[in-house]
Amino acid sequence: MSRKRVAVLISGRGSNMAALIEAAKDKTYPAEIALVLSNRADAGGLLVAHAAGITTEVVEHTQFGKDRAGFEHALQATLEKHRVEIVCLAGFMRLLSGEFVNRWQGRLLNIHPALLPAFKGLDTHKRALEAGAKVHGATVHFVVPEMDSGPIIAQGAVNVLAGDSEEALAARVLKVEHRIYPLGLKLVAEGRVQVVDGRCLVDGAPVPDTAPQVPSG
Ligand code: GRF
Repeated sequence: MSRKRVAVLISGRGSNMAALIEAAKDKTYPAEIALVLSNRADAGGLLVAHAAGITTEVVEHTQFGKDRAGFEHALQATLEKHRVEIVCLAGFMRLLSGEFVNRWQGRLLNIHPALLPAFKGLDTHKRALEAGAKVHGATVHFVVPEMDSGPIIAQGAVNVLAGDSEEALAARVLKVEHRIYPLGLKLVAEGRVQVVDGRCLVDGAPVPDTAPQVPSG
């Protein structure tokens, strides 16, 4: 089976992008990172991608002002130019329109630093601490027009520890992100994920719980 051509969309440091690049170095991994695309020319991840020998492109949203359709048209053209089959958002800080999202339905993934449906949006670690959450984590999900709301492909959890700072918690969650994003992409690239009634099935069964039974710290 040929490997799926994946674009990773970034806006910043790109550590999840790096985890996907690392996973895809294995020739038996079902996806190859065909493109890293950033909406910011100064995204640190571009240097990392370049050093790994991955093709990079920049489509700067600022060039389009308020013309979101124009920006997305340029994104789409770039993805088509590189014959991209699956798109992974990895710290991509632009909201995408329903039109764009629907065009990529079932082929557009995101990683969110919380156990969805809890803590959608920004500042998830701070909000988890403020809420007194005992368990926190990360989610790989399909993107739907409503933000942070698509079918859940994979999750991983960490314990919230006494005295945790936002930074310490974020660092432990990030490790989980780097583990579950390659796993989620693998399942999708292998065509093993099916969405039924808004929920993901893997090989026709409910998604296996990727979190440890007793969440580890
Ligand atoms: C990650 O925490 C990811 O979950 C969120 O944005 C952050 C991106 O970090 N969507 P990185 O650029 O992958 O290091």
